[in-house]
Amino acid sequence: MEFERNILCIGAGYVGGPTMAVIALKCPEYRIEVVDINEERIQQWNSDNIPIYEPGLDEIVKQVRNKNLFFSTDIQKGIKKADIIFVSVNTPTKTFGEGAGMASDLQHWEKTAHTIIEYANSDKIIVEKSTLPVRTAEAMERILKASNKGIKFEVVSNPEFLAEGSAVRDLLEPDRVLIGAHQTPEGRKAEKELADIYAHWIPRGKIIITNLWSSELSKLVANAFLAQRISSINAVSALCEKTDADISEIAYAVGSDSRIGPKFLNASIGFGGSCFKKDILNLVYITKSYGLNEAAEYWEMVVKMNEHQKQRFVQRIVKEMFNTVADKKIALFGFAFKANTGDTRESAAIFITKQLLEERAVVAITDPKALDNARMDLKGIDRNVIYEPDPYKAAEGAYAVALVTEWEEFKTLDYERIYKSMKKPAFVFDGRNILDHKKLYEIGFNVYPIGKTQLTHFE
Ligand code: UDX
Ligand code: ADP
Repeated sequence: MEFERNILCIGAGYVGGPTMAVIALKCPEYRIEVVDINEERIQQWNSDNIPIYEPGLDEIVKQVRNKNLFFSTDIQKGIKKADIIFVSVNTPTKTFGEGAGMASDLQHWEKTAHTIIEYANSDKIIVEKSTLPVRTAEAMERILKASNKGIKFEVVSNPEFLAEGSAVRDLLEPDRVLIGAHQTPEGRKAEKELADIYAHWIPRGKIIITNLWSSELSKLVANAFLAQRISSINAVSALCEKTDADISEIAYAVGSDSRIGPKFLNASIGFGGSCFKKDILNLVYITKSYGLNEAAEYWEMVVKMNEHQKQRFVQRIVKEMFNTVADKKIALFGFAFKANTGDTRESAAIFITKQLLEERAVVAITDPKALDNARMDLKGIDRNVIYEPDPYKAAEGAYAVALVTEWEEFKTLDYERIYKSMKKPAFVFDGRNILDHKKLYEIGFNVYPIGKTQLTHFE
Protein backbone atom coordinates (compact mmCIF):
# COMPACT_ATOMS: atom_id res chain seq x y z
CA MET A 1 0.00 0.00 0.00
CA GLU A 2 1.18 3.54 -0.81
CA PHE A 3 1.24 5.77 2.24
CA GLU A 4 0.64 9.52 2.08
CA ARG A 5 3.36 10.46 4.55
CA ASN A 6 6.30 8.78 6.25
CA ILE A 7 6.69 9.55 9.90
CA LEU A 8 9.69 8.44 11.95
CA CYS A 9 10.02 8.46 15.71
CA ILE A 10 13.50 8.14 17.20
CA GLY A 11 13.19 6.64 20.71
CA ALA A 12 10.79 3.80 21.53
CA GLY A 13 10.24 4.64 25.21
CA TYR A 14 7.35 5.56 27.48
CA VAL A 15 6.57 8.59 25.31
CA GLY A 16 7.57 7.55 21.77
CA GLY A 17 5.90 4.11 21.83
CA PRO A 18 2.37 5.01 22.99
CA THR A 19 2.29 8.32 21.08
CA MET A 20 3.12 6.69 17.78
CA ALA A 21 0.72 3.81 18.39
CA VAL A 22 -2.13 6.28 18.80
CA ILE A 23 -1.10 8.36 15.75
CA ALA A 24 -0.95 5.13 13.72
CA LEU A 25 -4.42 4.17 14.91
CA LYS A 26 -5.93 7.53 14.02
CA CYS A 27 -4.00 8.16 10.78
CA PRO A 28 -4.11 4.94 8.72
CA GLU A 29 -2.86 6.78 5.64
CA TYR A 30 0.50 7.51 7.32
CA ARG A 31 3.35 5.04 7.60
CA ILE A 32 4.93 5.30 11.03
CA GLU A 33 8.22 3.79 12.01
CA VAL A 34 9.60 3.79 15.54
CA VAL A 35 13.33 3.21 15.88
CA ASP A 36 15.63 2.78 18.85
CA ILE A 37 19.27 1.91 19.48
CA ASN A 38 18.13 -0.59 22.08
CA GLU A 39 17.63 -3.83 20.15
CA GLU A 40 15.97 -5.65 23.03
CA ARG A 41 13.37 -2.90 23.36
CA ILE A 42 12.54 -3.10 19.66
CA GLN A 43 12.26 -6.90 19.85
CA GLN A 44 9.82 -6.49 22.73
CA TRP A 45 7.73 -3.97 20.80
CA ASN A 46 7.56 -6.56 18.02
CA SER A 47 6.52 -9.35 20.41
CA ASP A 48 3.40 -10.21 22.40
CA ASN A 49 5.11 -8.76 25.42
CA ILE A 50 5.49 -5.04 24.75
CA PRO A 51 8.11 -3.37 26.97
CA ILE A 52 5.83 -1.02 28.89
CA TYR A 53 2.63 -1.63 30.76
CA GLU A 54 -0.06 0.91 29.87
CA PRO A 55 -3.77 0.09 30.09
CA GLY A 56 -5.20 -0.25 26.56
CA LEU A 57 -1.89 0.01 24.74
CA ASP A 58 -1.49 -3.68 24.01
CA GLU A 59 -4.71 -3.80 22.01
CA ILE A 60 -3.84 -0.72 19.93
CA VAL A 61 -0.36 -2.02 19.12
CA LYS A 62 -1.81 -5.36 18.05
CA GLN A 63 -4.27 -3.58 15.78
CA VAL A 64 -1.77 -1.39 13.90
CA ARG A 65 1.58 -3.18 14.13
CA ASN A 66 2.95 -4.19 10.73
CA LYS A 67 0.01 -2.43 9.06
CA ASN A 68 1.09 1.19 9.38
CA LEU A 69 3.19 1.01 12.55
CA PHE A 70 6.63 -0.58 12.42
CA PHE A 71 9.33 -1.01 15.05
CA SER A 72 12.93 -1.31 13.92
CA THR A 73 16.57 -0.64 14.74
CA ASP A 74 17.35 0.58 11.24
CA ILE A 75 17.68 4.26 12.10
CA GLN A 76 19.54 5.05 8.90
CA LYS A 77 16.83 3.78 6.59
CA GLY A 78 14.15 5.36 8.75
CA ILE A 79 15.73 8.81 8.45
CA LYS A 80 16.09 8.56 4.68
CA LYS A 81 12.44 7.72 4.18
CA ALA A 82 10.90 10.15 6.65
CA ASP A 83 9.15 13.44 5.93
CA ILE A 84 8.59 14.15 9.61
CA ILE A 85 10.92 13.00 12.40
CA PHE A 86 9.77 12.97 16.03
CA VAL A 87 12.71 12.97 18.44
CA SER A 88 11.72 11.15 21.59
CA VAL A 89 15.01 10.08 23.13
CA ASN A 90 15.59 10.37 26.85
CA THR A 91 16.92 13.59 28.38
CA PRO A 92 17.78 12.66 31.98
CA THR A 93 19.35 14.96 34.55
CA LYS A 94 23.07 15.42 33.97
CA THR A 95 25.17 13.35 36.37
CA PHE A 96 28.54 14.88 35.51
CA GLY A 97 30.31 18.18 34.75
CA GLU A 98 28.71 21.63 34.61
CA GLY A 99 25.12 21.56 35.85
CA ALA A 100 25.42 18.01 37.29
CA GLY A 101 22.29 17.06 39.23
CA MET A 102 20.29 19.94 37.72
CA ALA A 103 20.66 20.51 33.98
CA SER A 104 19.39 18.17 31.27
CA ASP A 105 21.81 15.70 29.78
CA LEU A 106 21.38 16.33 26.09
CA GLN A 107 23.90 13.81 24.81
CA HIS A 108 21.33 11.34 23.36
CA TRP A 109 19.48 14.16 21.81
CA GLU A 110 22.59 15.73 20.24
CA LYS A 111 23.72 12.34 18.90
CA THR A 112 20.32 12.06 17.28
CA ALA A 113 20.76 15.44 15.57
CA HIS A 114 24.10 14.31 14.17
CA THR A 115 22.63 11.00 12.98
CA ILE A 116 19.83 12.87 11.23
CA ILE A 117 22.29 15.08 9.32
CA GLU A 118 24.41 12.09 8.41
CA TYR A 119 21.64 10.12 6.73
CA ALA A 120 19.08 12.70 5.59
CA ASN A 121 18.85 13.28 1.86
CA SER A 122 15.67 15.39 1.67
CA ASP A 123 13.99 18.25 3.59
CA LYS A 124 12.50 17.24 6.94
CA ILE A 125 10.38 18.54 9.75
CA ILE A 126 11.99 17.74 13.10
CA VAL A 127 9.61 17.51 16.03
CA GLU A 128 10.97 17.84 19.57
CA LYS A 129 8.93 15.41 21.66
CA SER A 130 11.40 14.89 24.49
CA THR A 131 11.16 17.50 27.23
CA LEU A 132 13.99 19.88 26.59
CA PRO A 133 15.35 23.03 28.17
CA VAL A 134 14.10 26.25 26.66
CA ARG A 135 15.96 27.31 23.49
CA THR A 136 17.14 23.76 22.74
CA ALA A 137 15.58 24.03 19.30
CA GLU A 138 18.08 26.79 18.60
CA ALA A 139 20.99 24.46 19.33
CA MET A 140 19.38 21.70 17.30
CA GLU A 141 18.95 24.08 14.38
CA ARG A 142 22.60 25.10 14.60
CA ILE A 143 23.69 21.49 14.39
CA LEU A 144 21.31 20.69 11.56
CA LYS A 145 22.21 23.82 9.61
CA ALA A 146 25.89 22.96 9.89
CA SER A 147 25.33 20.29 7.23
CA ASN A 148 26.34 21.42 3.79
CA LYS A 149 23.97 19.10 1.96
CA GLY A 150 21.51 21.85 1.03
CA ILE A 151 18.76 20.11 3.00
CA LYS A 152 16.25 22.19 4.98
CA PHE A 153 15.27 21.17 8.50
CA GLU A 154 12.39 22.94 10.22
CA VAL A 155 12.40 22.36 13.97
CA VAL A 156 9.05 22.34 15.78
CA SER A 157 8.37 21.82 19.48
CA ASN A 158 5.50 19.51 20.43
CA PRO A 159 5.85 18.52 24.09
CA GLU A 160 3.97 15.48 25.32
CA PHE A 161 1.76 15.89 28.39
CA LEU A 162 0.68 12.25 28.81
CA ALA A 163 0.90 10.77 32.28
CA GLU A 164 1.96 7.17 32.75
CA GLY A 165 -0.79 4.74 33.60
CA SER A 166 -3.27 6.82 31.62
CA ALA A 167 -1.15 7.36 28.50
CA VAL A 168 -3.67 5.97 26.03
CA ARG A 169 -6.57 8.00 27.40
CA ASP A 170 -4.39 11.13 27.59
CA LEU A 171 -3.35 10.66 23.96
CA LEU A 172 -6.85 9.95 22.70
CA GLU A 173 -8.47 12.78 24.66
CA PRO A 174 -5.82 15.32 25.57
CA ASP A 175 -6.70 18.58 27.34
CA ARG A 176 -4.61 20.27 24.67
CA VAL A 177 -1.91 19.67 22.10
CA LEU A 178 0.87 22.24 22.07
CA ILE A 179 2.82 23.10 18.96
CA GLY A 180 5.56 25.71 18.96
CA ALA A 181 7.10 26.85 15.71
CA HIS A 182 9.01 29.75 14.25
CA GLN A 183 6.61 32.40 13.07
CA THR A 184 8.08 32.35 9.55
CA PRO A 185 6.40 30.95 6.40
CA GLU A 186 8.42 27.71 6.70
CA GLY A 187 7.72 27.47 10.43
CA ARG A 188 4.00 27.98 9.87
CA LYS A 189 3.95 25.35 7.16
CA ALA A 190 5.60 22.81 9.48
CA GLU A 191 3.25 23.78 12.30
CA LYS A 192 0.27 23.21 10.01
CA GLU A 193 1.51 19.78 8.90
CA LEU A 194 1.81 18.71 12.51
CA ALA A 195 -1.54 20.22 13.48
CA ASP A 196 -3.14 18.32 10.58
CA ILE A 197 -1.94 15.01 12.04
CA TYR A 198 -3.54 15.72 15.43
CA ALA A 199 -6.68 17.16 13.82
CA HIS A 200 -7.51 13.58 12.71
CA TRP A 201 -9.00 13.08 16.19
CA ILE A 202 -8.50 16.22 18.26
CA PRO A 203 -10.73 19.30 17.84
CA ARG A 204 -8.78 22.21 16.32
CA GLY A 205 -9.74 24.38 19.29
CA LYS A 206 -7.60 22.16 21.54
CA ILE A 207 -4.51 22.58 19.38
CA ILE A 208 -2.55 25.49 20.82
CA ILE A 209 -0.01 27.23 18.64
CA THR A 210 2.76 29.28 20.25
CA ASN A 211 6.24 30.40 19.42
CA LEU A 212 8.95 27.79 19.76
CA TRP A 213 10.34 29.01 23.08
CA SER A 214 6.96 29.33 24.79
CA SER A 215 6.19 25.75 23.83
CA GLU A 216 9.46 24.40 25.24
CA LEU A 217 9.07 26.38 28.46
CA SER A 218 5.36 25.55 28.88
CA LYS A 219 6.18 21.89 29.36
CA LEU A 220 8.63 22.58 32.20
CA VAL A 221 6.21 25.03 33.79
CA ALA A 222 3.24 22.65 33.56
CA ASN A 223 5.18 19.97 35.39
CA ALA A 224 6.47 22.47 37.95
CA PHE A 225 2.89 23.63 38.68
CA LEU A 226 1.61 20.06 39.05
CA ALA A 227 4.46 19.08 41.36
CA GLN A 228 3.99 22.28 43.33
CA ARG A 229 0.40 21.29 44.16
CA ILE A 230 1.63 17.98 45.56
CA SER A 231 4.36 19.61 47.63
CA SER A 232 1.86 22.16 48.91
CA ILE A 233 -0.62 19.53 50.09
CA ASN A 234 2.20 17.41 51.51
CA ALA A 235 3.51 20.42 53.45
CA VAL A 236 0.05 20.76 55.01
CA SER A 237 -0.16 17.01 55.73
CA ALA A 238 2.60 17.31 58.32
CA LEU A 239 0.63 20.00 60.13
CA CYS A 240 -2.53 17.86 60.04
CA GLU A 241 -0.74 15.01 61.78
CA LYS A 242 0.06 17.38 64.66
CA THR A 243 -3.50 18.70 64.93
CA ASP A 244 -6.90 17.12 64.47
CA ALA A 245 -7.29 18.42 60.93
CA ASP A 246 -7.74 15.86 58.15
CA ILE A 247 -5.83 16.33 54.88
CA SER A 248 -8.55 14.73 52.71
CA GLU A 249 -11.19 17.06 54.13
CA ILE A 250 -8.91 20.02 53.56
CA ALA A 251 -8.12 18.93 49.97
CA TYR A 252 -11.85 18.63 49.29
CA ALA A 253 -12.70 21.98 50.84
CA VAL A 254 -9.84 23.79 49.14
CA GLY A 255 -10.24 22.00 45.79
CA SER A 256 -13.95 22.87 45.64
CA ASP A 257 -12.93 26.42 44.82
CA SER A 258 -13.21 26.40 41.04
CA ARG A 259 -10.13 28.61 40.83
CA ILE A 260 -8.09 25.88 42.52
CA GLY A 261 -9.81 22.70 41.29
CA PRO A 262 -9.89 19.25 42.90
CA LYS A 263 -7.17 17.35 41.03
CA PHE A 264 -3.62 16.64 42.14
CA LEU A 265 -4.29 17.33 45.78
CA ASN A 266 -3.70 13.83 47.15
CA ALA A 267 -1.22 13.89 49.97
CA SER A 268 1.33 11.10 49.56
CA ILE A 269 4.79 9.80 50.34
CA GLY A 270 6.00 12.29 47.71
CA PHE A 271 5.91 12.43 43.94
CA GLY A 272 8.08 10.22 41.77
CA GLY A 273 8.32 9.53 38.05
CA SER A 274 10.81 10.46 35.40
CA CYS A 275 9.55 14.01 34.84
CA PHE A 276 8.73 16.15 37.85
CA LYS A 277 12.06 16.29 39.65
CA LYS A 278 14.06 16.39 36.44
CA ASP A 279 11.98 19.15 34.88
CA ILE A 280 11.89 21.33 37.99
CA LEU A 281 15.63 21.06 38.49
CA ASN A 282 16.03 21.94 34.86
CA LEU A 283 13.79 24.99 35.34
CA VAL A 284 15.81 25.93 38.43
CA TYR A 285 19.07 25.60 36.51
CA ILE A 286 17.89 27.70 33.60
CA THR A 287 16.39 30.36 35.89
CA LYS A 288 19.64 30.53 37.90
CA SER A 289 21.71 30.76 34.76
CA TYR A 290 19.90 34.03 33.99
CA GLY A 291 20.72 35.30 37.49
CA LEU A 292 17.10 34.99 38.66
CA ASN A 293 18.04 33.47 41.99
CA GLU A 294 14.86 34.13 43.97
CA ALA A 295 12.69 32.53 41.30
CA ALA A 296 15.10 29.57 41.15
CA GLU A 297 14.97 29.10 44.93
CA TYR A 298 11.18 29.26 44.86
CA TRP A 299 10.94 26.29 42.48
CA GLU A 300 13.74 24.40 44.18
CA MET A 301 11.68 24.31 47.38
CA VAL A 302 9.10 22.13 45.58
CA VAL A 303 11.75 19.43 45.20
CA LYS A 304 13.17 19.94 48.71
CA MET A 305 9.69 19.58 50.21
CA ASN A 306 9.26 16.34 48.28
CA GLU A 307 12.55 14.93 49.59
CA HIS A 308 11.47 15.89 53.09
CA GLN A 309 8.12 14.11 52.71
CA LYS A 310 9.83 10.82 51.77
CA GLN A 311 12.20 11.18 54.71
CA ARG A 312 9.34 11.98 57.06
CA PHE A 313 7.52 8.80 56.06
CA VAL A 314 10.48 6.60 56.96
CA GLN A 315 11.24 8.51 60.16
CA ARG A 316 7.67 8.00 61.26
CA ILE A 317 7.84 4.25 60.63
CA VAL A 318 10.99 3.93 62.70
CA LYS A 319 9.77 6.18 65.50
CA GLU A 320 6.36 4.53 65.85
CA MET A 321 7.85 1.04 65.80
CA PHE A 322 9.62 1.79 69.09
CA ASN A 323 12.61 3.45 67.43
CA THR A 324 13.94 0.30 65.85
CA VAL A 325 13.17 -1.75 62.78
CA ALA A 326 16.38 -3.79 62.88
CA ASP A 327 15.69 -7.43 61.88
CA LYS A 328 11.98 -6.64 61.52
CA LYS A 329 10.22 -7.64 58.33
CA ILE A 330 8.35 -4.76 56.73
CA ALA A 331 6.01 -5.47 53.81
CA LEU A 332 6.19 -2.73 51.19
CA PHE A 333 2.90 -2.66 49.28
CA GLY A 334 3.84 -1.22 45.91
CA PHE A 335 7.08 -0.13 44.30
CA ALA A 336 5.98 1.67 41.10
CA PHE A 337 5.98 5.48 41.31
CA LYS A 338 2.20 5.42 40.82
CA ALA A 339 -0.51 2.86 40.09
CA ASN A 340 -1.10 1.29 36.65
CA THR A 341 2.52 1.35 35.59
CA GLY A 342 5.54 -0.86 36.11
CA ASP A 343 7.81 2.20 35.96
CA THR A 344 9.87 2.87 39.07
CA ARG A 345 11.93 5.84 37.92
CA GLU A 346 12.35 8.25 40.88
CA SER A 347 9.79 6.22 42.82
CA ALA A 348 9.65 7.20 46.49
CA ALA A 349 9.74 3.43 47.15
CA ILE A 350 13.42 3.33 46.18
CA PHE A 351 14.35 5.91 48.79
CA ILE A 352 12.10 4.33 51.41
CA THR A 353 13.53 0.84 50.83
CA LYS A 354 17.11 2.08 50.99
CA GLN A 355 16.47 3.92 54.25
CA LEU A 356 14.74 0.90 55.80
CA LEU A 357 17.65 -1.30 54.75
CA GLU A 358 20.04 1.17 56.40
CA GLU A 359 17.98 0.72 59.55
CA ARG A 360 18.61 -3.02 59.05
CA ALA A 361 15.02 -3.96 58.35
CA VAL A 362 14.07 -6.86 56.08
CA VAL A 363 11.93 -5.43 53.27
CA ALA A 364 9.42 -7.66 51.48
CA ILE A 365 8.34 -5.86 48.30
CA THR A 366 5.14 -6.72 46.49
CA ASP A 367 3.87 -4.99 43.35
CA PRO A 368 1.66 -6.26 40.51
CA LYS A 369 3.87 -4.83 37.73
CA ALA A 370 7.11 -3.38 39.07
CA LEU A 371 9.04 -6.25 40.66
CA ASP A 372 11.47 -6.62 37.74
CA ASN A 373 12.31 -2.93 37.84
CA ALA A 374 12.59 -3.07 41.64
CA ARG A 375 15.20 -5.82 41.28
CA MET A 376 17.22 -3.60 38.95
CA ASP A 377 16.89 -0.54 41.20
CA LEU A 378 18.12 -2.45 44.25
CA LYS A 379 20.78 -4.52 42.53
CA GLY A 380 23.78 -5.10 44.79
CA ILE A 381 22.06 -3.89 47.97
CA ASP A 382 19.18 -6.35 48.18
CA ARG A 383 20.56 -8.99 50.53
CA ASN A 384 17.73 -8.23 52.96
CA VAL A 385 15.05 -7.73 50.33
CA ILE A 386 12.36 -10.24 49.41
CA TYR A 387 10.56 -9.80 46.08
CA GLU A 388 7.12 -11.36 46.46
CA PRO A 389 4.31 -11.14 43.91
CA ASP A 390 1.74 -12.32 46.48
CA PRO A 391 0.89 -9.55 49.01
CA TYR A 392 -0.37 -12.12 51.54
CA LYS A 393 3.02 -13.85 51.55
CA ALA A 394 4.84 -10.52 51.69
CA ALA A 395 2.92 -9.63 54.85
CA GLU A 396 3.36 -13.04 56.52
CA GLY A 397 5.40 -12.64 59.71
CA ALA A 398 5.85 -8.89 59.07
CA TYR A 399 5.70 -6.26 61.81
CA ALA A 400 4.33 -3.60 59.48
CA VAL A 401 2.74 -2.97 56.10
CA ALA A 402 3.88 0.24 54.41
CA LEU A 403 1.67 1.08 51.45
CA VAL A 404 3.51 3.22 48.92
CA THR A 405 1.68 2.73 45.59
CA GLU A 406 -2.07 3.24 45.22
CA TRP A 407 -2.84 0.01 43.32
CA GLU A 408 -6.57 -0.83 43.36
CA GLU A 409 -5.79 -4.43 44.33
CA PHE A 410 -4.36 -3.32 47.67
CA LYS A 411 -7.74 -1.86 48.63
CA THR A 412 -9.57 -5.16 48.26
CA LEU A 413 -7.21 -7.49 50.12
CA ASP A 414 -8.46 -9.50 53.09
CA TYR A 415 -6.83 -7.48 55.88
CA GLU A 416 -8.16 -9.79 58.61
CA ARG A 417 -6.18 -12.59 57.03
CA ILE A 418 -3.15 -10.30 56.74
CA TYR A 419 -3.47 -9.21 60.37
CA LYS A 420 -3.62 -12.80 61.58
CA SER A 421 -0.42 -13.69 59.75
CA MET A 422 1.56 -10.71 61.07
CA LYS A 423 3.62 -10.13 64.23
CA LYS A 424 1.86 -8.12 66.95
CA PRO A 425 1.51 -5.25 67.53
CA ALA A 426 0.83 -4.91 63.80
CA PHE A 427 1.27 -1.58 62.05
CA VAL A 428 -0.08 -0.12 58.79
CA PHE A 429 1.52 3.01 57.33
CA ASP A 430 -0.77 4.12 54.52
CA GLY A 431 1.38 6.40 52.37
CA ARG A 432 -1.49 6.98 49.91
CA ASN A 433 -4.55 7.15 52.17
CA ILE A 434 -6.38 4.53 50.12
CA LEU A 435 -7.23 2.00 52.82
CA ASP A 436 -10.22 1.93 55.15
CA HIS A 437 -8.43 3.14 58.27
CA LYS A 438 -11.32 2.68 60.68
CA LYS A 439 -11.82 -0.91 59.57
CA LEU A 440 -8.11 -1.67 59.87
CA TYR A 441 -8.13 -0.23 63.39
CA GLU A 442 -11.11 -2.40 64.31
CA ILE A 443 -9.28 -5.47 63.04
CA GLY A 444 -6.48 -4.64 65.47
CA PHE A 445 -3.92 -2.73 63.42
CA ASN A 446 -2.24 0.47 64.58
CA VAL A 447 -2.91 2.74 61.63
CA TYR A 448 -0.83 5.70 60.46
CA PRO A 449 -2.28 7.54 57.47
CA ILE A 450 -0.73 10.64 55.87
CA GLY A 451 -2.10 13.92 57.24
CA LYS A 452 -4.75 12.34 59.45
CA THR A 453 -5.10 11.36 63.08
CA GLN A 454 -3.39 8.06 63.78
CA LEU A 455 -5.56 5.23 65.12
CA THR A 456 -3.67 3.19 67.68
CA HIS A 457 -4.41 0.71 70.43
CA PHE A 458 -1.58 2.02 72.61
CA GLU A 459 -2.28 3.95 75.82
C1 UDX B 1 3.69 13.78 34.78
C2 UDX B 1 2.66 14.79 34.23
O1 UDX B 1 1.39 14.55 34.87
C3 UDX B 1 2.53 14.66 32.72
O2 UDX B 1 1.67 15.66 32.22
C4 UDX B 1 3.91 14.79 32.10
O3 UDX B 1 3.83 14.59 30.69
C5 UDX B 1 4.90 13.80 32.69
O4 UDX B 1 4.93 13.95 34.12
P1 UDX B 1 3.65 11.17 35.34
O5 UDX B 1 4.98 11.42 35.99
O6 UDX B 1 3.54 10.03 34.39
O7 UDX B 1 3.17 12.48 34.53
O8 UDX B 1 2.56 10.92 36.48
P2 UDX B 1 1.65 11.84 37.41
O9 UDX B 1 0.28 11.30 37.38
O10 UDX B 1 1.80 13.28 37.12
O11 UDX B 1 2.22 11.54 38.87
C6 UDX B 1 3.52 11.94 39.26
C7 UDX B 1 3.76 11.60 40.72
O12 UDX B 1 2.97 12.42 41.57
C8 UDX B 1 3.41 10.16 41.08
O13 UDX B 1 4.38 9.64 41.95
C9 UDX B 1 2.07 10.29 41.78
O14 UDX B 1 1.80 9.24 42.66
C10 UDX B 1 2.26 11.61 42.50
N1 UDX B 1 1.00 12.29 42.86
C11 UDX B 1 0.13 12.67 41.88
C12 UDX B 1 0.71 12.57 44.19
O15 UDX B 1 1.49 12.24 45.09
N2 UDX B 1 -0.46 13.22 44.50
C13 UDX B 1 -1.35 13.62 43.54
O16 UDX B 1 -2.38 14.22 43.89
C14 UDX B 1 -1.05 13.33 42.19
P1 ADP C 1 10.76 8.68 27.82
O1 ADP C 1 10.10 8.39 29.14
O2 ADP C 1 11.10 10.15 27.65
O3 ADP C 1 10.05 8.13 26.64
P2 ADP C 1 12.63 6.46 27.74
O4 ADP C 1 13.94 6.33 28.47
O5 ADP C 1 11.50 5.57 28.09
O6 ADP C 1 12.21 8.00 27.89
O7 ADP C 1 12.84 6.31 26.17
C1 ADP C 1 13.85 6.92 25.44
C2 ADP C 1 14.34 5.92 24.38
O8 ADP C 1 15.26 6.61 23.52
C3 ADP C 1 15.09 4.70 24.94
O9 ADP C 1 14.46 3.52 24.50
C4 ADP C 1 16.52 4.85 24.36
O10 ADP C 1 17.11 3.60 24.02
C5 ADP C 1 16.26 5.67 23.10
N1 ADP C 1 17.44 6.38 22.61
C6 ADP C 1 18.34 7.10 23.32
N2 ADP C 1 19.30 7.61 22.50
C7 ADP C 1 18.99 7.21 21.23
C8 ADP C 1 19.57 7.42 19.94
N3 ADP C 1 20.67 8.14 19.80
N4 ADP C 1 18.98 6.83 18.87
C9 ADP C 1 17.85 6.09 19.01
N5 ADP C 1 17.25 5.87 20.19
C10 ADP C 1 17.80 6.41 21.29
